[in-house]
Amino acid sequence: MGGGGVGKSALTVRFVHAMFVEKYDPTIEDSYRRNLTVDGITVALEVLDTAGTEQFMSLSTLYMRSGDGFLLVFSLTSVESISELHTIREQIMRIKEATLIPGKEQRVPIVLVGNKLDLTHERQVSREVAVHLSRSWGGVPYYETSARKEINVNAIFEDVVRQMIKA
Ligand code: GTP
Ligand code: MG
Repeated sequence: MGGGGVGKSALTVRFVHAMFVEKYDPTIEDSYRRNLTVDGITVALEVLDTAGTEQFMSLSTLYMRSGDGFLLVFSLTSVESISELHTIREQIMRIKEATLIPGKEQRVPIVLVGNKLDLTHERQVSREVAVHLSRSWGGVPYYETSARKEINVNAIFEDVVRQMIKA
């Protein structure tokens, strides 16, 4: 999940089909499947690629309820896109809290993702700012990625799946 144009679809398509989508076509909703083996465990992963643009976001609480793990994506080239994640994370936590089992320690599997690492000259968000946010969320893992250059794309999916297996 994350704002419009940050690269959610490009990361998903890179992960599932090993290619880069150059064209920006705002998502309404797309679903993908891929098997992934993490630490010797193979899972059948369903990846829901959600809408970032306001007019398509009405389904987002539904995704939050049904999702087992979340990649929260912003663009390293947009300060605005990192601040948009506050509300999304708060919504996820509120929805997940409602289904918590009392007395059992539970964490919602989340990974913070700063995408478009390859656009060095357009960078607006420092690593420090993002790490600070990830710490304020109880130390969720933070990765810098590039869907274009294929940097850390598998790593973000593996990390969230690892958390999902433990959860
Ligand atoms: P919505 O579906 O509207 O929420 O947007 P999105 O988050 O799915 O963004 P999308 O993946 O469609 O990417 C938006 C634009 O950014 C496209 O033109 C992509 O090619 C480009 N893009 C995505 N990831 C990267 C990246 O890592 N590097 C560069 N240079 N461009 C990227
Ligand atoms: Mg999209």
